[in-house]
Amino acid sequence: MGQEVRGVVAKEKGAAVTLETIVVPNPGPGEAVIALQACGVCRTDLHYREGGINDDFPFLLGHEAAGIVESVGAGVTDVAPGDFVVLNWRAVCGTCRACRRGRPWYCFSTHNAAQKMTLPDGTALSPALGIGAFADKTLVAAGQCTKVNPKARPEAAGLLGCGVMAGLGAAMFTGQVELGDSVAVFGCGGVGCAAVAGSKLVGAAVIIGVDLNAKKLDLARSFGATHTIDASTTDPVQAIRSLTGGNGADVCIEAVGDPKVMEQAFLARDLAGTLVQVGVPTPDMKIELPMIELFGRGGALKSSWYGDCLPERDFPMLTGLYLQGRLPLEKFVSETIELDGVEESFGKMQRGEVLRSVVKI
Ligand SMILES: NC(=O)c1ccc[n+]([C@@H]2O[C@H](COP(=O)([O-])OP(=O)(O)OC[C@H]3O[C@@H](n4cnc5c(N)ncnc54)[C@H](O)[C@@H]3O)[C@@H](O)[C@H]2O)c1
Ligand SMILES: [Zn+2]
Ligand SMILES: [Zn+2]
Repeated sequence: MGQEVRGVVAKEKGAAVTLETIVVPNPGPGEAVIALQACGVCRTDLHYREGGINDDFPFLLGHEAAGIVESVGAGVTDVAPGDFVVLNWRAVCGTCRACRRGRPWYCFSTHNAAQKMTLPDGTALSPALGIGAFADKTLVAAGQCTKVNPKARPEAAGLLGCGVMAGLGAAMFTGQVELGDSVAVFGCGGVGCAAVAGSKLVGAAVIIGVDLNAKKLDLARSFGATHTIDASTTDPVQAIRSLTGGNGADVCIEAVGDPKVMEQAFLARDLAGTLVQVGVPTPDMKIELPMIELFGRGGALKSSWYGDCLPERDFPMLTGLYLQGRLPLEKFVSETIELDGVEESFGKMQRGEVLRSVVKI
């Protein structure tokens, strides 16, 4: 039969989100119902509300979450009721071409639960990124649940489910930042600060944070930036060159989603350096690069989806580093809010006032 709980729903394009009664069915084969404890507010939730992802309204928002498994369907063996889990939007299938070639981080046959949650009148809800976690409970595929150490605070651990993982992984996995490297991170929001933290974790010697907002630059320093550049007053390409002995950075990470910043990040690299694109562009954005610069500078241009993470490998490991005090996940939690505070938190995010507002459920 299922159960009626509260959930944050975007009913139509551009309209304020509302707290609604939703119906969460019992788990079918391969599925699990999660009693949610915390869910971070990510820019992608706002993109959904604005119709920027697709038109499958109404959406059940929220996708950066941790909670307790309440019940599981037939055939579920990896998780059991009572387990503390972080939800992921990359439940790798193991059988697609990417998985078979040993590149499961490119798996796109993600095993999400069928869209079975509804409004009380039967209207189907589209869960954001196949998760839908601004709710008391949600239904997901069991593969979307990754068990982590239950000593972790849900508000912190849940952030591994999206933005923080994207930033950490952009540096550690996509950019392959190494001991002694120089790194420049453009945009020091939640994703950029995580890229700074990831660069520090793997031993980068120089970590340069670039932003337009002085508060974000302070935050970047608190996560391990050795230098910061205010791009509203200083040309970041020149400044990065002078901070790296005239060379440019080994790895430049674009964490804004802006063509001008992308060009700056391209030009601020050392010879054979790597440019990692994490910021999500809109379909109309274009960059213009002289071909001779692409040829002459060598190196690599890579985009990073979800930090090239593998949840089963990375979430438990990163939760462990957090519990050892080596990964400051708590610092990303700018504030905790209630389920009915999600709409207001979008404004705070747009005004650059928070790294993450986290709904405590
Ligand atoms: N690739 C992925 O898997 C993935 C996952 C999550 C989020 N994202 C994307 O990453 C990007 C960053 O997300 P976020 O949550 O950190 O957003 P955010 O808004 O918190 O941070 C963006 C930062 O960029 C700064 N900025 C804006 N213009 C700038 C400029 N010209 N130069 C330097 N800094 C500038 C802002 O001041 C802000 O601090 C977004 O585009 C988001 O959609 C990507
Ligand atoms: Zn696959
Ligand atoms: Zn997200």
